[in-house]
Amino acid sequence: MTDKSFEGRCALVTGATSGIGRATAERLLAGGAKVVAAGRRTDRLEGLAAGHEGRVYPLTLDVTDAKAVATLPAALPKGFAPDILVNNAGLALGLGGADEADLDQWDRMIDTNIRGLVHVTRAFLPQLKALPRADVVNIGSIAGTYPYPGGNVYGGTKAFVRQFSLNLRADLLGSKVRVACVEPGMADTEFSSVRFSGDERKAAKVYEGVEALTGEDIAEVIANLLALPPHVVVNRVEVMPVQQASGPLSVSRGEG
Ligand SMILES: NC(=O)c1ccc[n+]([C@@H]2O[C@H](COP(=O)([O-])OP(=O)(O)OC[C@H]3O[C@@H](n4cnc5c(N)ncnc54)[C@H](OP(=O)(O)O)[C@@H]3O)[C@@H](O)[C@H]2O)c1
Repeated sequence: MTDKSFEGRCALVTGATSGIGRATAERLLAGGAKVVAAGRRTDRLEGLAAGHEGRVYPLTLDVTDAKAVATLPAALPKGFAPDILVNNAGLALGLGGADEADLDQWDRMIDTNIRGLVHVTRAFLPQLKALPRADVVNIGSIAGTYPYPGGNVYGGTKAFVRQFSLNLRADLLGSKVRVACVEPGMADTEFSSVRFSGDERKAAKVYEGVEALTGEDIAEVIANLLALPPHVVVNRVEVMPVQQASGPLSVSRGEG
């Protein structure tokens, strides 16, 4: 039996306006934690705060804004210093081949999934390291391990997140900071709508006939990792819907 009470803890969750981040914020709130809920859509953050009197600090934040991120730890109000950091904000843009990809989309994925995550982590590590107990949970993806056509830069950013997480463990050895990389498979969130620039029909097709993961499924995995005894850390966890598996290697025969 694990202890799932997060009372006395405070989590900063990036990308708390939707999907996995929103569900994680709600799950930790349900366990008694305070939450700094970060994202660009302020109205949604305020909606979350309204439902949890005094336990949510809504933080309008674009993780690609390096200046705002660097000054963040000092700018948080008293009582909202995080001892849990959930680096969840991220996105995939497009599903085209690498030879025809839009470089702006590639840059945005790198800026958000890599640069944003690294900057937020760097900003909070000194204070996390000084605590008697702290957690960093990075949201990777199975796309960082298993290639698929059109996954090019998105998968590359998530491979970075996995390796950065493992390297953080090496740097933080001797401290009480646990670092876990949670690597979901197909989850039915706003992810595909963002990937296909708001084309909801295309997004819906991704999940057609599949019982995909939900944000709540991943939030429950995160809650379980956080509830493990403080001396136990799960470095990486891959989570897929049962209706998803990695495919065989492909071969192109003939002339081309
Ligand atoms: N869904 C999947 O199948 C799947 C699978 C594996 C991994 N993941 C990963 O899971 C994480 C969450 O995705 P999701 O599925 O929950 O998708 P989602 O519903 O689209 O949520 C993405 C979240 O990221 C935030 N975000 C995006 N860019 C941001 C920025 N520049 N600054 C701050 N926040 C930003 C969004 O908030 P705002 O727009 O309000 O800023 C939103 O809250 C991502 O890292 C994604 O790569 C998803």
